Amino acid sequence: MNNIENLKSIASEHLFMHGVQINDWKNEGPMIFVEGEGSWVTDIEGKKYLDMMGGLWFKSAGYGRKKIADAVYKQMTEISSPPANSTTASTILLSGKIAEIYTDNNCRTFFVSGGSEAVETAVKMAKKYQINSGKSRAYKIISRRNSYHGSTAMAVSLGRTFTADPMGPEMIGNIHVANYNAYRPPIPGNPTPEEISEWLIYELEHVIVQNDPDTIAAIIAEPVSAANGIHVPPRSYWEGLRRISDKYQIVLISDEVINGFGRLGEWFGSQCFGIQPDITTVAKGITSGYAPLGAAIATKKIADSFLGGQKEMFYHLITFGGHPISTAAANANLEIFSEENLIENSKIMGNYLYERLQSLYEYPIVGDVRGGLGLLAAVEIVKDKKTKEKFSPEMNLIQKMTRNLLKNGIISFRAGDVISICPPLSINKSEIDFMVQGIESSIKSILQDKKIKH
Ligand SMILES: Cc1ncc(COP(=O)(O)O)c(C=O)c1O
Repeated sequence: MNNIENLKSIASEHLFMHGVQINDWKNEGPMIFVEGEGSWVTDIEGKKYLDMMGGLWFKSAGYGRKKIADAVYKQMTEISSPPANSTTASTILLSGKIAEIYTDNNCRTFFVSGGSEAVETAVKMAKKYQINSGKSRAYKIISRRNSYHGSTAMAVSLGRTFTADPMGPEMIGNIHVANYNAYRPPIPGNPTPEEISEWLIYELEHVIVQNDPDTIAAIIAEPVSAANGIHVPPRSYWEGLRRISDKYQIVLISDEVINGFGRLGEWFGSQCFGIQPDITTVAKGITSGYAPLGAAIATKKIADSFLGGQKEMFYHLITFGGHPISTAAANANLEIFSEENLIENSKIMGNYLYERLQSLYEYPIVGDVRGGLGLLAAVEIVKDKKTKEKFSPEMNLIQKMTRNLLKNGIISFRAGDVISICPPLSINKSEIDFMVQGIESSIKSILQDKKIKH
């Protein structure tokens, strides 16, 4: 058995792949990758693809960064991890770097190992902040339907997506409100983004009042929700979230696990909407996926509430949270961001991508093109443009689209009714052209499929 067959056979028998049905890959074996450079990855059979989703929404600095590998090697050989209740220079310096780029320069950061843990940390922090501030009955958390905030037991309650397996009762006190969607608006007629935003904020306030404002600890939302299909809300929506949170002393958590670190063309997503959240959660792009890391960034107001004695402290501990290997990777990653102006490139290339995607409207199955805020965009495929009816699940659009894209040299795990686009922030114009041409050819192949009626 050669090396490839051997690996595939072991995987078929012994490996769980995250978020995929084993039967979907068991026979062919999983795709195995061996190399990456910039926006490109090479599989074990030598085939090269442009990674349109930057791994799992995280490969912001692109592949093959020796600078990050060197920083990790140096950290590992010097002090791989500190004794308990102590820290390392790399973790301290990263907290300082975040304070420099965050809207509140007096913020304090709690490092963890990934996005779900960042969300768990932020929610716990918000609840304890409320206790410390005298709003001691507050334990409920408001989140939005069709969002995703992680896979751990609490975080999964906050999102209401396909990933939420029936696991019995959700977290007690979890309240869901409508999400922002201008293509399929929550109100009838042809409302403008401003009107949708006004209605959503009105609904939110109504839900808060109905549920007793004194019992509500926090609201959590992504500036631009990836799980909900990358709808970019108007500024007034986030201004409304901030206004209502202030009115009822609710902690506003901005989940920037995907949006943070330049994805929307600013260091933080909330900066695009001109607001200061109370807590911001980050992960993914903070290290560009070179090592696992997440964080909950608290404003000074929130962080200072934990000063005092044993009673006031934020008692929270995760063994590998803020691991120096990961913070060393993050420091090197963020240096690359500055050296190569990746935030600016996200803005410029994001505009170019959005402009290029407009040409896809000529196809009868392209219902909506969304983006225009950094390098996060989406193309929504529909059976009927007028009614916005979706293709039936039996048609298996996900499988067809993913295979078509692969044939066109593009790898993506988020292509179906909605084709999500989240490439490295280091991408250039010709790579964007390649990507848009590949999407176009894949759409044409869908249209040529005799079994598809639209
Ligand atoms: C907005 C958001 N929050 C939290 C998470 C969970 O992050 P992780 O998978 O690192 O636990 C994700 C993951 O995709 C996410 O998109």
